[in-house]
Amino acid sequence: MTKLDFIYQRHSVRKFKDQPVAAEHLQEMIKAATYAPSGKNLQNWHFVVVTNKEKIAAIANLVMAKNEKLAGYIKDDAKAKALRAMVHYHTVFKAAPVLVLVYAGPYPTVADDLLAAGVMPVNEALEYARPNPAVQNIAAALENLQLAAANLGYGTCWMTGPTYAAQEISEYIGFTKAGYFLAAMSPLGVPDEGKWAYPPRKPVEEILTIIE
Ligand SMILES: Cc1cc2nc3c(=O)[nH]c(=O)nc-3n(C[C@H](O)[C@H](O)[C@H](O)COP(=O)(O)O)c2cc1C
Repeated sequence: MTKLDFIYQRHSVRKFKDQPVAAEHLQEMIKAATYAPSGKNLQNWHFVVVTNKEKIAAIANLVMAKNEKLAGYIKDDAKAKALRAMVHYHTVFKAAPVLVLVYAGPYPTVADDLLAAGVMPVNEALEYARPNPAVQNIAAALENLQLAAANLGYGTCWMTGPTYAAQEISEYIGFTKAGYFLAAMSPLGVPDEGKWAYPPRKPVEEILTIIE
């Protein structure tokens, strides 16, 4: 046991027991998500929690259909095949008891003002948008949610793969909040696995630079 066990307990879970998630735990996890930092404390996140098995399976079907549609557009056969092969990885939530959809709302940056001013080429102005605080905010919230879930005995899996079906999913669930887009999602449930292996991490020396 170390003080950081709450970090190391989280890992991606893609198989779940047929058990519900307690409503009070769900509330706690969403609350924990909202305690993430956000630029200007804008809290530009919105969580849509789907607890209906048929609806979760229907969302997986929308992802499969969109995968096939997009693969059909790709002329390079190898690349189209690769996209089709990813569909399993994009629908791992299909049998989970809960699916959390994480929406990101607008976060104004200086790039918006520079684009409006038209004083520099669009590409140059867009450089100022690269840190993308709108998405960083929801990422911080989703990480909090995942850490809370792991510590309450639940498994999650951060997913952006299926967001290519964002429009279809949002229409299906009827979620319309001006300026919000589906940035990520996560299944949630009791893990159905004995033990897990962490995918290897790059050594700290490789990803750390200390300037003294
Ligand atoms: C931005 C992001 C997108 C991801 N998208 C998917 C996905 O679409 N499907 C999936 O099965 N896992 C997805 N993952 C999970 C990663 O594969 C996983 O986090 C990584 O392999 C490390 O494993 P761990 O989470 O068990 O530590 C995603 C993770 C992140 C952070």
